[in-house]
Amino acid sequence: MQTSPISFDPFSHLKDAEAHERIRAARQKLGDRAVLLVHHYQRADVYQHRDLTGDSLKLSRLAGQTDAEYIVFCGVHFMAEVADILSKPEQIAILPDLAAGCSMADMANLAKVERCWRELREVLGTPDSVVTPVTYINSAADLKAFCGEHGGIVCTSSNAPKILDWAFARREKILFFPDQHLGRWSGHKMGIPLDDMVVWDPDLPYGGLTHEQIRRARMLLWKGHCSVHQMFQPAHIAAWRKQYPDGIVISHPESAFEVCAASDYVGSTEYILKTVKDAAPGTKWLVGTELNLVSRLAEEVRDEGKLVQFMSPMVCMCSTMQRIDPQHLAWTLENLAEGRVVNRISVPAHEADLARLSLERMLEVS
Ligand code: 13P
Ligand code: SF4
Repeated sequence: MQTSPISFDPFSHLKDAEAHERIRAARQKLGDRAVLLVHHYQRADVYQHRDLTGDSLKLSRLAGQTDAEYIVFCGVHFMAEVADILSKPEQIAILPDLAAGCSMADMANLAKVERCWRELREVLGTPDSVVTPVTYINSAADLKAFCGEHGGIVCTSSNAPKILDWAFARREKILFFPDQHLGRWSGHKMGIPLDDMVVWDPDLPYGGLTHEQIRRARMLLWKGHCSVHQMFQPAHIAAWRKQYPDGIVISHPESAFEVCAASDYVGSTEYILKTVKDAAPGTKWLVGTELNLVSRLAEEVRDEGKLVQFMSPMVCMCSTMQRIDPQHLAWTLENLAEGRVVNRISVPAHEADLARLSLERMLEVS
């Protein structure tokens, strides 16, 4: 029988060096019973303990492939939910700090999406035959379940245009949530005119749109965004190009349309890392994504004479992912090493089954 977990309190006072020592000791005790999946935005002092890293797509695949008893997810809540959904029933997904959410994911919820669906029914008749719901993986499990139930699908930043192809092959319109920017950029990449994509404001009746606008639109883009990527501006790119006329700009598609349009390359975190690492020595890069990734990348390629600069003059980190620190990791792993499970992320079975449908559709397509 599991004894009660050691509380986090004493760990909050640990000096970093001691936390690292205790992480290493607990990992040694756990051996391959625990695997640490770490997102690219994770802070350096947690990243150093990684087993596997990736963008959201790669991490979801890895979660489905590992055999470890405990999947310790150093990322944000929706990522640990995906790990729980795609892993085997006997595996346990854990998020070292439950406060590590995603502010973008919180911009859509089931009540609002269901209201939107009812309003679409009033305007379009049966939405299930006209509109494919597509949720960005940055969303709660019940929204993935909604997509599973309504013939929809999940996408990530690395497969969004392919997923839109899949969705348009089935129905004439797409409801895309919660990130309007990823939706708009991906729609644009597929050749959909900007005028055919309208923003659905979930706080207004009918998304703030007229019935005519809803009928004419091909994509309904949920009014959501990432607070980190909204900091990047076309002016930052213009200033960089002035300073380095031969410089190259690469951005994450959660950035605003104007930023993506002014960039030379746009893609997921994994794509950004690979593109810059594979580039010729001496190249200069302006990178529009989270600061921890950019700082690490700059270090890694410095010896090849590559310059990597963060796009914004302001510090913009994913403050929620940042919540996972060595202290929380030490607390989690010590408990696990003693057979006590803390911060388990467990999606209710009926929800997980439907969410798995929409995730598996995505994995098949990509
Ligand atoms: P990636 O899938 O590109 O890693 O993006 C995840 C994310 O949350 C970016 O903000
Ligand atoms: Fe969410 Fe933005 Fe953080 Fe990505 S960077 S996890 S979208 S808040």
